[in-house]
Amino acid sequence: MPPSTTDPILSLRGITKSFGAVAALTDIDLDVVSGQVLAVVGDNGAGKSTLVKVLSGVHTPDSGTITFESGQIEISSPADAHRLGIATVFQDLALCENLNVIENLFLGHEVRALRLDDVAMEVRSWELLRQLSAKIPSVRVPVASLSGGQRQTVAIARSLLADPKVVILDEPTAALGVAQTAEVLNLIERLRDHGLGVIMISHNMADVKAVADKVGVLRLGRNNGIFDVDDVSPEDIIAAITGARDNVVAQRSARHRQPAPTSAEEGSHP
Ligand SMILES: Nc1ncnc2c1ncn2[C@@H]1O[C@H](COP(=O)(O)OP(=O)(O)O)[C@@H](O)[C@H]1O
Ligand SMILES: [Mg+2]
Repeated sequence: MPPSTTDPILSLRGITKSFGAVAALTDIDLDVVSGQVLAVVGDNGAGKSTLVKVLSGVHTPDSGTITFESGQIEISSPADAHRLGIATVFQDLALCENLNVIENLFLGHEVRALRLDDVAMEVRSWELLRQLSAKIPSVRVPVASLSGGQRQTVAIARSLLADPKVVILDEPTAALGVAQTAEVLNLIERLRDHGLGVIMISHNMADVKAVADKVGVLRLGRNNGIFDVDDVSPEDIIAAITGARDNVVAQRSARHRQPAPTSAEEGSHP
């Protein structure tokens, strides 16, 4: 039987990572499906960036397993992640301000590997940006002159050069205004439409509701619920983030206990 389209392309089971006495991640399970956006949300220090770094080969987990395209794998270095097809756009974007869009796109693996000349690189740049329906006025301008949304676009386009299967975006809209956020959310939808599995780290419930299919909540380095975005309110997600509500599994097993009232519920019980 062929694998169903909802089989995850990337699965984490029991991923644990400590830094000395700090348990940054404990027993994390997550599934990423091709053509879907998984939002990962959580408060500061919840372990989001550590998770990104485990998946991009910056940190090696202490225990747990990672399955990619139905085989168990290890991501021991950024080169491993790159070779496997797991691309990461880090929060700082790592663009060179003084270089133009083309130079930023091809930095590190430009002409030599691909034997591309200047014209071919420009053509390829426009191809990538068109694929993303990106609004960049010129690929010959320095990145310093671009808006925050356009820079994010360049960073995402660069991550696509290696033809990845999974793209991880760490807080892609954190520094952006309303219009630029909308632009980047459009971009994320393009990635999903192209069949990529997308992990979007976010703090913003509106963004999560707008583009995510699933949302996984991290709290103090642990899973605190995985929801279908259509079935969950922003208030419920926030309750899971802050710990006002235990994870759904814990809630079910503790059904007899009186649940802690949320502010909404308090209002309806005078
Ligand atoms: N390289 C590191 N060395 C020591 N502690 C770290 C390191 N990276 C993260 N931590 C700690 O791990 C926890 C999770 O951090 P992080 O993954 O950055 O959270 P988030 O991105 O959700 O804000 C925090 O307590 C943080 O201080
Ligand atoms: Mg972080």
